[in-house]
Amino acid sequence: MAGNLKQALEKKLSEKEKAVFVKSFDSLGNIAVIEIPKELKKKEQLIGNTLLELNKNFKTVCKIAGPHKGKYRLQPLKIIAGEKNFIAEYKESGCRFVFDVRKTFFSPRLSNERLRISKLIKKNEIIGCFFAGVSPFPVVFSKNSEMKKAFAVELNPEAVKMMKKNVLINKCAEKITVIQGDVNKIARTKLKNSCDRIVMPMPHGGENFLKETLKALKKNGVIHFYQVLEKETAFEEAIARAKKECIKQKRKFVLLDKKIVRPFSATKVQVVIDFKAG
Ligand SMILES: C[S@@+](CC[C@H](N)C(=O)[O-])C[C@H]1O[C@@H](n2cnc3c(N)ncnc32)[C@H](O)[C@@H]1O
Repeated sequence: MAGNLKQALEKKLSEKEKAVFVKSFDSLGNIAVIEIPKELKKKEQLIGNTLLELNKNFKTVCKIAGPHKGKYRLQPLKIIAGEKNFIAEYKESGCRFVFDVRKTFFSPRLSNERLRISKLIKKNEIIGCFFAGVSPFPVVFSKNSEMKKAFAVELNPEAVKMMKKNVLINKCAEKITVIQGDVNKIARTKLKNSCDRIVMPMPHGGENFLKETLKALKKNGVIHFYQVLEKETAFEEAIARAKKECIKQKRKFVLLDKKIVRPFSATKVQVVIDFKAG
């Protein structure tokens, strides 16, 4: 699809413009999100309309207007073509999600991770879905694993509103408890020593939540810990952070797996480490 877009623009862009064009984009069902380099600003409408013509599922094309920011990790977006609508209707792994792309974080790029972890979840496990956003992790787990229950913790009230809606749409209210609040507080209070497995998809700053997250994890429970770090030392650094916190709490650190999730920038990657804390 990204190749098709490049092909469709072949005759509409100059050689100079083609050289800076970023052909990849995120598909959020009816909304496409694309990066437009500043050199192509005058062509953004043309690019947006070409994308709408190529993929009839897209009704709106947004351009990225800045990096994710703030504690809710929101991405500034601007509509460049199609309907004036920011509500995405997106499908993944047999689940449906509705959310406002301006007011909540969502990344389709973690869909493989959600399925990978679904396959690791054992029957009757209690899962902590921390930094749950609009619910992609807990809902995909609910549909694709034999978990007993998930506690979905999220701070952003808008995301929590969408999460509650998505839990209902996907008929998993019996298995998912939505908790609005700060992971650091919820983990050491309501969820103390209650989870067999905890997912921490907070790659920027997730290390500041390890201490309390460990308190919510049962003995020999598993944590999936995401980080964005310098390529060369990413695994080393992520492992060192997790191990240090386990040692502080006199828990045995056992590395189960490590993976590159996706490239992040020229020098950084997003990684995940799976570890057991004894
Ligand atoms: C990188 S996003 C991940 C969202 C979701 N898991 C996904 O993959 O689409 C991180 C999420 O953590 C939430 N968040 C930030 N600080 C938090 C905190 N202290 N406690 C709970 N959630 C928090 C943000 O609002 C955001 O929705």
